[in-house]
Amino acid sequence: MSKPLVLLTHPLPEAWIAALEDKVRLVVGEEGFASFSPQLEAYLPEAAGILSLLTAKVDKELLVRAPHLRVVSNMAVGVDNVDVVACTKQRIPVGHTPDVLTDATADLTMAILLSAARRLPESARDAKEGRWGTWSPTGWLGADLRGAQLGIIGMGKIGQAVAERAHGFGIRLAYTNPAKIESDAAHLPLEELLKTSDFVSLHCPLKESTRGLIGEKELKMMKKTAILVNAARGPVVDSDALLCALKEGWIASAALDVTDPEPLPASNPLYDLPNCLIVPHIGSATHGARRRMAEIACENLLAGLAGEKLPHCFNSEIYA
Ligand code: GLV
Repeated sequence: MSKPLVLLTHPLPEAWIAALEDKVRLVVGEEGFASFSPQLEAYLPEAAGILSLLTAKVDKELLVRAPHLRVVSNMAVGVDNVDVVACTKQRIPVGHTPDVLTDATADLTMAILLSAARRLPESARDAKEGRWGTWSPTGWLGADLRGAQLGIIGMGKIGQAVAERAHGFGIRLAYTNPAKIESDAAHLPLEELLKTSDFVSLHCPLKESTRGLIGEKELKMMKKTAILVNAARGPVVDSDALLCALKEGWIASAALDVTDPEPLPASNPLYDLPNCLIVPHIGSATHGARRRMAEIACENLLAGLAGEKLPHCFNSEIYA
């Protein structure tokens, strides 16, 4: 029997995808393509499986061109790049990679929150560029953490891991979530969370109800001293409104692991603001997390090809 054809949208280290060896016929997209390269697209009519990165659009139109598709395995916890509704209609399971990136993403969230709170990018640049005079009692003053309130929007696994870390810094916790969870943190409506928090951190998935969740109205509700952290998805924040908020002092600063669009072009005015820290979507970028994500993506893929239930299936209702 011939091996099933699998399209991998971007090269991955061999050791990470060793499980696929001898089991599938793998066609790998070229480096430099965020989504399907034209060379990879040519294989869609024969493809039985797709192993996609979060930058690859798996939409209705693509599904039409892949009539033999049996599984979409996304190497990410978020699946906003995949039309899950269309996949579910066609009973195509969609795999994702939860849990293994929770710690890495929560660590990065704390890293950029602390960097913004203590103004690391500005002060490091000032030191390097010769603006470090004598020790200044009033130079580069930042936010106090102990006793400050962190408002977490989206108290899922990553939100809770951030809360656990923030608790260690003596930060008070509040969250907004569709469902109340077992937690010492205060469960607040969005408006109250925005008005009362010193730091606001986003950890909700991107979907129709969260697209543009933080816009002009919400940014204006926040404290003028507040720091906004986004390690979820760029479009949860209205970028134009954020630019105004940072320029005009509606909030103090922002720390962004994700932007809209991605990559954020080097000419984007957000980069010119001293109160905006931007890193290139590296929440899960640790050796361990990325390798486990790839391994789980392979496990999901192989299960789907074998007609078995995916170990981590986003649309598990297809098995009902
Ligand atoms: C990263 O952003 C992911 O969704 O895995």
